[in-house]
Amino acid sequence: MQRFALLGAGFIGSVHAANLAAHPGIDFSLVYDVDHSRAQTLAAAHGARAATELDEVFDRSAVDAVFIASSTDTHATHLRRAAEAGVAVLCEKPIDLDLHHARETAALAARHGIPVMVDFNRRFDRDYAELKRIVDAGEIGGIELIQLSSRGPAMPPLSYIATSGGQMRDQTVHFFDLARWLTGLEPVEVFATGSALAEPRLREYNDVDTSAVTLRLSNGGLVQIDSARRTGYGYDERIEIMGSTGMAEAGRHRTGAVSRYYAGKVIADGMPAGWFERVQPTYAAALAHFVTAVEMGTPITPSLEDGLKAQAIAEAATLSSAAAGPKPSSTDRAPNSALPPGPAARQQGHIFTRPWPDAGASRYN
Ligand SMILES: NC(=O)c1ccc[n+]([C@@H]2O[C@H](COP(=O)([O-])OP(=O)(O)OC[C@H]3O[C@@H](n4cnc5c(N)ncnc54)[C@H](O)[C@@H]3O)[C@@H](O)[C@H]2O)c1
Repeated sequence: MQRFALLGAGFIGSVHAANLAAHPGIDFSLVYDVDHSRAQTLAAAHGARAATELDEVFDRSAVDAVFIASSTDTHATHLRRAAEAGVAVLCEKPIDLDLHHARETAALAARHGIPVMVDFNRRFDRDYAELKRIVDAGEIGGIELIQLSSRGPAMPPLSYIATSGGQMRDQTVHFFDLARWLTGLEPVEVFATGSALAEPRLREYNDVDTSAVTLRLSNGGLVQIDSARRTGYGYDERIEIMGSTGMAEAGRHRTGAVSRYYAGKVIADGMPAGWFERVQPTYAAALAHFVTAVEMGTPITPSLEDGLKAQAIAEAATLSSAAAGPKPSSTDRAPNSALPPGPAARQQGHIFTRPWPDAGASRYN
């Protein structure tokens, strides 16, 4: 049995708590949250205990692994503590909003040799696993053109946007990871642009709600990713991969498979209400992979390296978008924006000018 502690008893922490409690190979013993009453409520619901001190979580004599599901700005601190304590980590994305700090944190974890997985849960979607099998088996030939869509049903609150890092880092980052994973190829160029259509106030945050990103892969193949925050018709996610000899498609999910046919029209079941309904089963599958890999000593993916690479693409896409689109004056910069509009962004925005392996100057890139 692996003894697990959970950090963060918010929305996703509650999802992970249920999966931790349900896994037969896990002794789910501790929950820690700065909001102690939240930790108490969640722990009580799953037969665990709420820790009063963070030190209890990083006690190697009582805990084998921590699941970091606290707010984004705390991931790196918790990861560092876990590395120093010698505790394995399953970490929610992103490692840190600052790529440089994320790299330093990852390097520290590597020096301590702890097993770490970044929770890019979409890799554990059954449809996407089948897409990957098809690509890896060479069933559609060489990769030429990929289309990924991620369109959310409704704008998140502005309070969420303020600390999210922006659409590329927060939403599209899952699809940067999927593009790398599905193709086994790295991007060499990134082009991005976006608009604030659903929520014009996003401009105050240097953010967008509707965006298009193009990646050129190392083999010349092209990836097109469109992301939207507000469809108004539900959560719409799908992937299409065109190869040199065929095409594979993971279509959009619907809430059911019933259609009603009338003269001149067909009425079908609609989209899932939100992204969570679409991806819910992937969280338990990701956790199961982590537990087995730690137990067997087999490779853990998505690794810290994967987390850093997806984040580096998000960084380049954010730069590119900032350089391409209309933007507020430099005095309107939002506190969470690491990317000032202006000449620097324009120069760096569109192209990875450095070879990909050099991008991080650490073993992770
Ligand atoms: N992989 C995915 O699909 C996915 C989905 C949702 C959220 N996330 C990530 O999970 C993280 C949490 O998101 P959420 O939606 O649950 O947010 P949330 O605001 O609902 O919960 C965050 C929790 O962290 C707690 N917290 C804050 N500082 C802490 C600290 N120092 N130590 C312990 N707990 C602390 C807060 O009190 C809160 O309970 C974010 O980083 C987010 O990007 C990932």
